[in-house]
Amino acid sequence: MNLNCTITPPIIRYQITIRPGLLSDKVGMTDQLTSLGSRFVLIADQTVSDKYAKALQEQLAPLDLLLLTIPAGEQSKTRQTKEWLEDQLLERRYGRDTCIIAMGGGMTTDLVGFLAATYCRGVPLVSIPTSLLAMVDASIGGKTAVNVRQGKNQIGSISQPSAVWLDPLVLKSLPAKELRNGFAEMLKHGLVADRDYFVFLEQQARSLLALQEDVMEQAIYHSCRIKNAIVQQDECENGKRRLLNFGHTIGHAIELAAQYAIGHGEAVALGMLVESAMAVKLGYLSMENHTRIRSALKQYGLPETLPRGIEMESILAAMQWDKKNRKGRSRFVLLTAIGQALPCDGSYCMYVDHAIVQEALQEIASLEPALQ
Ligand SMILES: NC(=O)c1ccc[n+]([C@@H]2O[C@H](COP(=O)([O-])OP(=O)(O)OC[C@H]3O[C@@H](n4cnc5c(N)ncnc54)[C@H](O)[C@@H]3O)[C@@H](O)[C@H]2O)c1
Repeated sequence: MNLNCTITPPIIRYQITIRPGLLSDKVGMTDQLTSLGSRFVLIADQTVSDKYAKALQEQLAPLDLLLLTIPAGEQSKTRQTKEWLEDQLLERRYGRDTCIIAMGGGMTTDLVGFLAATYCRGVPLVSIPTSLLAMVDASIGGKTAVNVRQGKNQIGSISQPSAVWLDPLVLKSLPAKELRNGFAEMLKHGLVADRDYFVFLEQQARSLLALQEDVMEQAIYHSCRIKNAIVQQDECENGKRRLLNFGHTIGHAIELAAQYAIGHGEAVALGMLVESAMAVKLGYLSMENHTRIRSALKQYGLPETLPRGIEMESILAAMQWDKKNRKGRSRFVLLTAIGQALPCDGSYCMYVDHAIVQEALQEIASLEPALQ
């Protein structure tokens, strides 16, 4: 006997609010939270907790709000941390009326997003990204995950938040290195989907690096708009969403090979260089555009060549864990121009010969850091 089951997916709507000073709007925040749950858990890493989460807890004091703090750094994005957080909630008998608030960088929004997706089979999540990377990328689109020994983000889910609150004022305390990680993902958005935005980023590098408020707000808005538009067309990454993986096949492998000693955005920047070098080798992208990409990354202080001590072999070995692999072979997003990638019949990625991957990696590894 067969039973045909069709379950209409619910339409999920949520708002991304971008506003300097948003985190001082006690009334607005309280109103939204009370519409989502009756018990609240705010989770942040130690740095963000000290800088912002403790203050937020005090501000929202009339609410039943528990603050849980985890160690900062990618090392916390594990099944073990998730289990610890789950135990904290279970021991206090938090139920389905819980609303979880993730405050922090992409490590926190990924980990806590996954916790919210599975706790009591799913409870509402409010995401408050505080790093640039989390604002423009990690907190948008619903991807949540933890890392395992074998690779990054191998265990996770796609589940959308109930709200994203984005206050660019918190970027003032973000270290320069972390800002750079965000700029890498912003450049990626321009490269795969919006030439005009890429040009804007080229032209506004100085203002953005100086955190000029209006320009930064505009840039964050455009990145969120681009990412959101792609996710709306392909939430589960069966086609167009793969564009956002540009630079990530190599980037994730570099992160793994470096044992996360390199920032995510920095690794993605290197990945974008290697993957655009592949596109040049395959005849899809002009050398001129490749050089332009390299110059833009340089403007934002992103690395132009592989850091010393990362073995090529370990990068190639780490690539075997990429989630886009089919039968163990890696697939790549290949640019054809600034703002455009090869559609590949709607799959937006294709297999590239191992020899080309190796050549492109070798080429970037042997570059001199200084570019005129
Ligand atoms: N889900 C997605 O779609 C997606 C997309 C891109 C990246 N990611 C993930 O995001 C993670 C990287 O994110 P990240 O770079 O934000 O790392 P992170 O969360 O580790 O934050 C970086 C550092 O900045 C600190 N920090 C954050 N906000 C701060 C602030 N306002 N002031 C001072 N310090 C602050 C943190 O404490 C941390 O030490 C990776 O795990 C990556 O896989 C996910």
